[in-house]
Amino acid sequence: MARTDRPAPPPLRELDGLHGSLDDPVLRSIGFLNEVMSRYPDAISFAPGAPHPDLLTDVEPQAYVDRFLDHLVQERGLKPRDARRALYEYGPSRGLVNDIVAAALRRDHGIDVPDRALVITVGAQEAMLLTLRALFGSATDRLAVASPSFAGIIGAARLLDIEVIGVEETDDGLDLAALAAECAAARRAGGRIRACYVAPDFANPAGSRMPPGNRRRLLALAEREDFLVLEDNAYGFTAAPHDALPPLKAEDPGRRVVHIGTFAKVGFPGARVGYVVADQPVATSAGSVLLADELAAVKSVVTVNTSPLTQAVVGGMLLEHGGSLRELGRRKAELYRRNLRLLTDALDRHLDLGPADGIHVNRPEGGFFVLMRLPVRVDTALLETSAARYGVLWTPMAPFHLTEAGADQLRLSCSYLDPRQIETGVRRLADFLRNEVRA
Ligand SMILES: Cc1ncc(COP(=O)(O)O)c(C=O)c1O
Repeated sequence: MARTDRPAPPPLRELDGLHGSLDDPVLRSIGFLNEVMSRYPDAISFAPGAPHPDLLTDVEPQAYVDRFLDHLVQERGLKPRDARRALYEYGPSRGLVNDIVAAALRRDHGIDVPDRALVITVGAQEAMLLTLRALFGSATDRLAVASPSFAGIIGAARLLDIEVIGVEETDDGLDLAALAAECAAARRAGGRIRACYVAPDFANPAGSRMPPGNRRRLLALAEREDFLVLEDNAYGFTAAPHDALPPLKAEDPGRRVVHIGTFAKVGFPGARVGYVVADQPVATSAGSVLLADELAAVKSVVTVNTSPLTQAVVGGMLLEHGGSLRELGRRKAELYRRNLRLLTDALDRHLDLGPADGIHVNRPEGGFFVLMRLPVRVDTALLETSAARYGVLWTPMAPFHLTEAGADQLRLSCSYLDPRQIETGVRRLADFLRNEVRA
């Protein structure tokens, strides 16, 4: 019988009772943007926070692996055969390149912790999941997040049924009075704020940076209210060399900060390598350990270990750049700073903003993103109009917010585009705003 003559199989019975997070728009937002981009291949897209393609042309995995194998032989005294085998076998859950990353964090960022305080993870995303899983032991524990926030932290919390509280960002950093009020409210309800997630150096999506005083006061509040700070440093490398601020973790004598990093931006995202620094002591029945030991235990039943091969690529890549994260990210940071400058300059030239427009654009000093507030609702219908009639795409901000606050905002990313595309894209965006948004 020909294949087409077969009777159609009965429809699958609908599955009910799936986890509630699967209904959450946060888990769908990335898929939705990819789908829109695929329908409008000629549109200029300010949506993806992906690396610039030019920065991926000189990635040389084999050379980096060889460099790392040398390191295993010269520095760790392995026989060449054993070094090679280490890349093909399962590896320790805590990682294979911890010493190289710990040395780089010490040297570049002043984060001085022992190798055993690090876990090498499958991207920053896994670091967030492991940290949340380990820290949140009670249903009454709440996670505070700077709002707007990276969808990855909100999504991970939702997967784990953790209650998430948004704390607004102001022009002076995180609204610490609001955070203190949330701590008090949680206590009154018989719970607590267990941790607060921030990205102090050029957040995604807002592009904001926490001023030094706000950083100090956040750590003091964490000490007073007994919560941990989850610091995500994905974009810190884009700061201009004379303008970099130390990460929170570099000035953390009270060990309040769990620091999360990634090679997705300073290296390349396909490696799927990130790390978490967790030097907090934890009392267990077997004695005192570090939080990193507990994260490694969680990881042993999530992804078992981060691929030794991609760790070798990233480790060798770091060594090739003198063991320095700053050096590894230098050329990339220059390109992203140039793109950000081109984007903000083009917005200034083409938008011709007047106070009556109701359009507001922020001016980040680093990172990949610019935020725009419009006098209308920014939703998927408006995005479709922008894509179909004007050939320009951007990201609606609503999924990044925990309240309605983002309903009139969009995010523009500059990372993926060339100067000409940025110029043309902003011209199209200006047409779109002129015709569809302004009164
Ligand atoms: C704030 C933030 N954290 C982390 C990451 C990267 O996560 P990963 O290392 O899992 O790719 C991103 C990437 O978009 C991000 O924007």
